[in-house]
Amino acid sequence: MARVILISNRVAIPKRGTHPGGLEVALKATLNKHTCVWLGWSGEVNESPGTQTIAEGKNSYVITDLRPEDFDEYYNGFANRVLWPIFHYRLDLAEFSRRDLSGYLRVNERFADEVLKLLGPDDIVWVHDYHLIPLAKALRARGRHNRIGFFLHIPLPPPESLTAMPNHEALIPSLGDYDLLGFQTDGDAANFARYLAKELGTPSHMSLRLGTGDRAMRIGTFPVGVETREFTRMARRSMKTTFVQRVVDSIPGFLMIGVDRLDYSKGITLRLEAYERFLAAHSEWRGRITYLQITPKSRSQIKEYAEMEAAVNAAAGRINGTYSEASWSPVRYVNRPYSRTALAGMYRAAHVGLVTPMRDGMNLVAKEYVAAQDPDDPGVLILSRFAGAADEFREALLVNPYDPDAVGAAIARAVTMPREERMGRHRELYAALLRNDISKWGDKFLKALGPQERERGERIRDSLVS
Ligand code: ADP
Ligand code: F6P
Repeated sequence: MARVILISNRVAIPKRGTHPGGLEVALKATLNKHTCVWLGWSGEVNESPGTQTIAEGKNSYVITDLRPEDFDEYYNGFANRVLWPIFHYRLDLAEFSRRDLSGYLRVNERFADEVLKLLGPDDIVWVHDYHLIPLAKALRARGRHNRIGFFLHIPLPPPESLTAMPNHEALIPSLGDYDLLGFQTDGDAANFARYLAKELGTPSHMSLRLGTGDRAMRIGTFPVGVETREFTRMARRSMKTTFVQRVVDSIPGFLMIGVDRLDYSKGITLRLEAYERFLAAHSEWRGRITYLQITPKSRSQIKEYAEMEAAVNAAAGRINGTYSEASWSPVRYVNRPYSRTALAGMYRAAHVGLVTPMRDGMNLVAKEYVAAQDPDDPGVLILSRFAGAADEFREALLVNPYDPDAVGAAIARAVTMPREERMGRHRELYAALLRNDISKWGDKFLKALGPQERERGERIRDSLVS
């Protein structure tokens, strides 16, 4: 098969440490199976940016630095102060500036120039996430006709919200330059189809096959998963390590776990409030349950993230101040990343997995928690109905994260759930995991993007303005 050129903002180079986030997990199987070049940002900010190529077996990694103004305008600016909040249904947090938009477009042009240096005529290009929406347009403008796919890892909001974004008229239709657009859920794909209908007048029955010129652009749903069986094995082994045993031994009674980047979309403050209400209403559990929240810092230069950090610190401090005893603290709040193995063991040791984002594209933590459980004595997953994973995980305890009383009640239900019920729910959840195992995800997407699909695609000319 042709080479696959992966392009994303972050690049995870093997043996160079992990950067917490879902992308690295999602692309692992594709990197193992295909000959890939993965191109993106080095993570470095530099006045005179350089580009470096690192060979790793059959794959190579091309990483490029960002200039300080690119970092401010493209990454902290348009990507994370405009697209991230709007796509996560938080119009109130979006801060638009023309300067940031032009920085975003400039970096996309630069990425296109870097891609051009290595792109062969048969290579398949697969672009990831909201940082790089206009990349296909930039490549087409440079005369490239390769198959180009795009996968959005985060949610896509309804057109009523999306149209609040200044310049959406230019940016969103530029997605028409891709051959295939992948979304996490049918809801996200339907929102995009509604956007097309509302803004461009595309009849909804045509919106799954659109195109510009002689290309046909298609839309599909490709829910991201995890390496289910491998993760289960890893969790089983990890439970026996000294590290996980020390964690288990240090906790009197039940363990409840939350694992998230420190991001407002993850709902950590309201989650702590829910736990506080649970402790207030169920005094019998004081001293018998510990909530371990593992939260590496993320995007700390952005004001909303710094504010959120302060709010989470305050909530954790308040709960510990109110309920701690000399021998027990209700909350253990940790601001650092752990290895995947250590996380797997801690998930398995936890009686409850608490995953309550206000909005999330998929949420791989929910999937990892389920994969890690012992099927004979599994823990209970409490999951926000607004995580993409809720579409597949109907047997989780689904909650509304905006309602701390309801989340508190779900905690009470989880810690008292009989073993038979836990096993039954886990069986269903595990079956759902296997259906969308990550080993199949990349191939499903690449097959849908492949040249054979081009022949089948209807050619609807000029449906999108590019
Ligand atoms: P997002 O991509 O928005 O961060 P996901 O839940 O989809 O959210 O993916 C998060 C990924 O990052 C998971 O694979 C999770 O294991 C990993 N992760 C989150 N927190 C940590 C941490 N403290 N240490 C290591 N990995 C982490
Ligand atoms: O899932 C969304 C996402 O942007 C991923 O692409 C990325 O791995 C993760 O969040 C972490 O974000 P950042 O790269 O901004 O730290």
